[in-house]
Amino acid sequence: MHHFQYKNNELFCEDVPVAEIATSVGTPFYLYSEATLTRHFEAFDRGFDGTDHVTCFAVKACSNIAILNLFASLGGGADIVSGGELFRALKGGVPAERIIYSGVGKTEAELSQGLDAGILMFNVESPLELDRLQKVALDQGKTAPVAFRVNPDVDPQTHAYISTGLAKNKFGISVEEALLEYVRARDMEGIDVRGVSCHIGSQLTQIDPFIEALRKLKQFVDRLEEEGISIDYLDLGGGVGITYEDEQPPHPHDYARAIKEELGDMNCTLVLEPGRVIAGNAGILVTQVQYTKVNTGGEKDKHFVIVDAAMNDLTRPSLYGAYHEIIPVTRGDGETQMVDIVGPICETGDFMARDRSLPVVQQDDLLAIMSSGAYGFTMASNYNSRPRAAEVLVRGDKFHVIRTRENFNDLIRGESLLETD
Ligand code: LLP
Repeated sequence: MHHFQYKNNELFCEDVPVAEIATSVGTPFYLYSEATLTRHFEAFDRGFDGTDHVTCFAVKACSNIAILNLFASLGGGADIVSGGELFRALKGGVPAERIIYSGVGKTEAELSQGLDAGILMFNVESPLELDRLQKVALDQGKTAPVAFRVNPDVDPQTHAYISTGLAKNKFGISVEEALLEYVRARDMEGIDVRGVSCHIGSQLTQIDPFIEALRKLKQFVDRLEEEGISIDYLDLGGGVGITYEDEQPPHPHDYARAIKEELGDMNCTLVLEPGRVIAGNAGILVTQVQYTKVNTGGEKDKHFVIVDAAMNDLTRPSLYGAYHEIIPVTRGDGETQMVDIVGPICETGDFMARDRSLPVVQQDDLLAIMSSGAYGFTMASNYNSRPRAAEVLVRGDKFHVIRTRENFNDLIRGESLLETD
């Protein structure tokens, strides 16, 4: 359930007409509904009521500090993968003791930044990372809280680019190797072994792979106990999918129930790192039709709708062949046409949708690209020297620009001409 609904054929975000925001901030822009973000966060988090847990929102999905701040106010933490995300999480008011640091390639500076901030746990992904973390900790005279990211070799049955829990993927450490690393870490000065973590992939539409991974993790924790190593945190990562088209992902409550059941009476704090399931359907990308045209001369005529959003704004269709529903902001008489909805970027791969049946649109009409709240703005770039779009958050009957549209000076910030002598 989300709060983007038509009222008298006009698309609203909560109580604000989307067209009104477009007039005020221009297009394209990302638009989020606070009520939807809140609802999704709470639906997820409450599923784990009765179990000690912390819901660490995956910052990479949607990283605006106003949104991180909202989750922090609801008791959430953050799952980060870079120094930049740590900076954002702290600016967004996320308490350091609710921040988890994942990622295969943390630099020395990033490890040091995390340690300085006093985060909950580093999810270490290689033996060399452990060594580096120890060095940083000893240099700072601190002890680093550590979990290893175990790669359980489970097939999440999702797009190959976002599958992370198979042995052939770059993530984590195999169960066998992890055992050796835990024993090593246990005896290391400056290292405090706190947990075990895993994350098997994103946009999962079934519960089974999560349970299979959890089962393997539990067996692993038993083996650790045989070595005299006990852990306080079990981090299951993120990955619950959403409906973009006709997928039927598990309801967060069913996901939580299955996890809790499998967990049994395991005595540790559960860490969860959801991203998409919270933000995905809580945001849209609003764009305006610039031109319509028909290209003839091929096997059949090709109808194009050229909009002012492009692959630099929303890269998912180009990168993963992802489907996003596209709907008109003002609903007409229902007549449709098969079109490609494309952006102005100089690449054939710059499309939002191909061979899509869309209500007939005219120049200047507004379109809403749905389910863009996760991995939308955060994956935007300046390709073709396009300033990044504005981000707007609606609360009830008011809208707030939470990130202004970039301007041309932003595009060249930090650049300089060579001095001539
Ligand atoms: N934790 C870790 C360690 C992750 O790597 C990820 C996502 C998450 C949590 C959050 O997963 P979620 O709950 O959002 O599925 N750009 C791609 C998705 C990449 C996901 C990468 N890792 C897309 O647009 O589909």
